[in-house]
Amino acid sequence: MTTNEMEKELEFVNRRFDRDAGVFEAIYNDEEKGFTRWFNKNFRKPIYERFDIAMNTVGDARGKSIIDVGCGTGVYITNLGQKGAKSVLGVDFSEGMLRIAGERIKKLNLEKTCSLRRANFLELETPEKFDYSIAMGVFDYLPDPVTFLNKLKSVTTGKVIASFPSHSLIRGPLRKLRYILTSRGNVYYYSKADIEKLAKMVGFSHFELVPVKTGSGFVLVATP
Ligand SMILES: C[S@@+](CC[C@H](N)C(=O)[O-])C[C@H]1O[C@@H](n2cnc3c(N)ncnc32)[C@H](O)[C@@H]1O
Repeated sequence: MTTNEMEKELEFVNRRFDRDAGVFEAIYNDEEKGFTRWFNKNFRKPIYERFDIAMNTVGDARGKSIIDVGCGTGVYITNLGQKGAKSVLGVDFSEGMLRIAGERIKKLNLEKTCSLRRANFLELETPEKFDYSIAMGVFDYLPDPVTFLNKLKSVTTGKVIASFPSHSLIRGPLRKLRYILTSRGNVYYYSKADIEKLAKMVGFSHFELVPVKTGSGFVLVATP
C-alpha cells in the first residue's frame, strides 16, 4: 500500500469514528436497553474483557503517567483518573469521540488529571514519555502496524498495552461483512505469530500475549 493510500485509509477511519461515536459510547452505557444492549452484551464481550486486561495490567495506577492512544469516548482515561493516576492523556483523531470523552471528564471532575489531544497519533509531537501507553481497539484499523507500534514504544518507559484482533471462523467474517455493508472500511486481523513478529521487529526487551478468551485476539503487554 502506498503512503497516499494509507493516509486515505486513516482519514476514512477518522470519519467513520466521528460518525459512530454515539454507537461506540452505547457499548459502555449500562443504561442502554433493548436490542442495542442485547447485541453489545452478547457480541462485544471482548471489548469488556480487554478493558479488564488493561486495567489489571496497570494495576495500581496511583502516581502513574499514562497515554491512551485512540482513547475513543474516554472510558479508560476516566477510570485511570479515578484510580489516582498522576496524569492521563487521551489521543484520538475523531472529534465526535473526543467530544464525548470531554463530557465524561467534566462530569467526573477529572479535568486536573485527564486531558485530551486531537491528533493522528503518528503525527503527535510529545516530548514527554509515559509510564504506560494503551492502544485498545486501534490496531484493528491500522494499515501500517509496525510504525504505530514503534511510536508507542518510543513514548513509553514502562509498558505498552495494545489489543490485536485475530481471525475467527464466525465472528471475523461476520464483522468483515457488517463493515462492508455499512461502509466502515477495512479491518485487520493478526495471528499470534503475526503479533510476535511485530513485537520482535519493534525490538521490545520483553513481551507477553494475553489471550482475549471471550473473542479471538490478544493483548500485547510489552516492555520497551
Ligand atoms: C474502536 S475505537 C476504541 C476506543 C477505545 N480505545 C476503547 O477501546 O474504548 C478506536 C479509536 O481509535 C481511534 N484511532 C484510530 N486510529 C487512530 C490514529 N492513527 N490516531 C488517533 N486515533 C486513532 C479512532 O478514532 C477511534 O476512536
